[in-house]
Amino acid sequence: MENDKPILAVIGGTGKEGRGLAYRWAKAGYTVHIGSRTPAKAQRMAATIRERVGQPDTPVFGTDNLTAAQKAEIVVLSVPYSAHKATLEAIAEAVQGKILVDVTVPLRPPKVTKAWFPPAGSAALEAQAILGPETAVVDAFQNIAYALLWEDVPIEADVLVAGKGKANRRRVMALVEAIGLRAWDAGPIENTPVVEGLTSLLIYMNKAYASDHIGIRIIM
Ligand SMILES: NC(=O)c1ccc[n+]([C@@H]2O[C@H](COP(=O)([O-])OP(=O)(O)OC[C@H]3O[C@@H](n4cnc5c(N)ncnc54)[C@H](OP(=O)(O)O)[C@@H]3O)[C@@H](O)[C@H]2O)c1
Repeated sequence: MENDKPILAVIGGTGKEGRGLAYRWAKAGYTVHIGSRTPAKAQRMAATIRERVGQPDTPVFGTDNLTAAQKAEIVVLSVPYSAHKATLEAIAEAVQGKILVDVTVPLRPPKVTKAWFPPAGSAALEAQAILGPETAVVDAFQNIAYALLWEDVPIEADVLVAGKGKANRRRVMALVEAIGLRAWDAGPIENTPVVEGLTSLLIYMNKAYASDHIGIRIIM
């Protein structure tokens, strides 16, 4: 922990969604380790983010996936579903006792506008089964378009946070709020199929309404 901010890793932080999250947390003063299968690629992304933040000493670093997970207190996973299981197995040891924030949506290209659920119910439930009880898997950001994260624009869409343990969800909600989004406690990990399934619906609606950032907003 540096100040009151946990050290973060973004596995797949070289990709569209992950780099936006890494950029926003770096800008908010978090230390971020970007993980990649190709460390040089992660280092290049870290340099791009430092430049974008505008402060050369911004603590964002690039390394391999396992090292990034080892260095972090909270590990964010943002890879295509096809790479989900293999990536989790590669970092499993390093995330024991930690929160794993899963951003993954179980999409099956090319049918990405149709909700599909893996046998366990969701990517998060699969991750929890792979990582075991000492890791808390929490879903977030499934319904936030990458284009908005990477730009310096206010985001009106809300983030549903569902996963193992209320206290863990609260910590993830704090990370959501730190980058200017509104977070909602969406309940236990059994609710993650709903959170993940919404994404196919939003991808469909993006096509239907010629947008690239349709999101949801909760009212009460
Ligand atoms: N894009 C969005 O707007 C959006 C919104 C919400 C949720 N999501 C979800 O977030 C996750 C990431 O989406 P994305 O659009 O950022 O994906 P992406 O750009 O295609 O991939 C993200 C990163 O995953 C790693 N990766 C790609 N293929 C891999 C493979 N076969 N094996 C291992 N690692 C691989 C790559 O990192 P390295 O090459 O550096 O290892 C890549 O930079 C997905 O599950 C997606 O459904 C995306």
